[in-house]
Amino acid sequence: MLDLILRRANLTDGRTGVDIGIQHGRIVAVEAGLAATAAAEVDVTGQLVTAPFVDAHFHMDSTLSYGLPRVNQSGTLLEGIALWGELKPQLTQDAIVERALAYCDWAVGKGLLAIRSHVDVCDPRLLAVEALLHVRERVKPYLDLQLVAFPQDGVLRSRGAMAQLVRALDMGVDVVGGIPHFERTMADGAESVRLLCELAAERGLRVDMHCDESDDPLSRHIETLSYQAQRLGLQGRVAGSHLTSMHSMDNYYVSKLLPLMKEAGVAAIANPLINITLQGRHDTYPKRRGMTRVPEMLAMGIPVAFGHDCVMDPWYSLGSGDMLEVAHMGLHVGQMTSQLAMRQCFDAVTSTPAGILGLDGYGTEVGCKADLVVLQARDPVEALRLRAARLYVIRAGQVIAQTAPNVASLSLPGRPASVSYQLG
Ligand code: FE2
Repeated sequence: MLDLILRRANLTDGRTGVDIGIQHGRIVAVEAGLAATAAAEVDVTGQLVTAPFVDAHFHMDSTLSYGLPRVNQSGTLLEGIALWGELKPQLTQDAIVERALAYCDWAVGKGLLAIRSHVDVCDPRLLAVEALLHVRERVKPYLDLQLVAFPQDGVLRSRGAMAQLVRALDMGVDVVGGIPHFERTMADGAESVRLLCELAAERGLRVDMHCDESDDPLSRHIETLSYQAQRLGLQGRVAGSHLTSMHSMDNYYVSKLLPLMKEAGVAAIANPLINITLQGRHDTYPKRRGMTRVPEMLAMGIPVAFGHDCVMDPWYSLGSGDMLEVAHMGLHVGQMTSQLAMRQCFDAVTSTPAGILGLDGYGTEVGCKADLVVLQARDPVEALRLRAARLYVIRAGQVIAQTAPNVASLSLPGRPASVSYQLG
């Protein structure tokens, strides 16, 4: 007797009519016509069952603070950083915890069960670090939160930031962050990458740096990050986030850069919602899109994830924790319209970031954790097209969130009374 069986599911690899058996929080069977009984069965005929959405890049310490203390007028990254600086002295631990927990509720409702969040360490009190470490424990039963020690104001530029970053790691923060393009000079940026990668190597930690989040075609910290990853043997443990300068780089230079990233085992994390709005702000027309070169990196075999980055904070006034919305924007900005490319966009918010975060037991095979999402869609492309409803969100074999199917009721002469968007 199993705990739960999902009957007649579609899987992301194209299999249909598959039963998924779950026991003790794990997937124990994936086969058609499973001859077993369970305490509960759910008929998911024709619906896509996927492992949960994963957000590889987020800022949970600033989320849901939109309008505090004011709104970003220029819409630029730099005004966002200045605004965050104005808000920081007013922050309280309770307020950060409350907003973060509220966001995690939103995330669960959207089937987003793993998030890598950067946390600013450029506050000597490390208020946000303490708050998010608390949140990480609170949400553990239903959401995997991985934290990155992020020196928002520059680990060299901001007095005391390196010591605070080390202290944050000592307190239990998981990953080493950085922001080389915000250091005072290119040379300081490169030095920050070296110091932070050496710190990660010493401690056996992963690295995820905000890198080249700029329209400057000569901002080349991803080259330095790849070099340090290769030099220190950090292959498979390093991610470069944003990488927007690559959008503006010379093609010849990129043809040298991408093989270096591949050789160094460096992954990329693009943030399409944010970078389509933050970048290109100094252009007249044509305006640059500002997203990094996603299809080209994928063609080179470099893992590329899409992150949400921000929801209702100094940098972005919208967002809802919906990784299908993130992937939808990435698909459009990257002109990733082939069947293969659309599937890659779905992977960029599921399996690819799961690999970057190093999630254990992720997937829909026998032996994986029974963390699953049932979508009101037949396949990944339809899920993207419809930003499909999350009919069931399952954690460790338990249904933790449900959403009613999205159905429009119509009153039209000579037409059916209701139409499910799924049939659209
Ligand atoms: Fe970011």
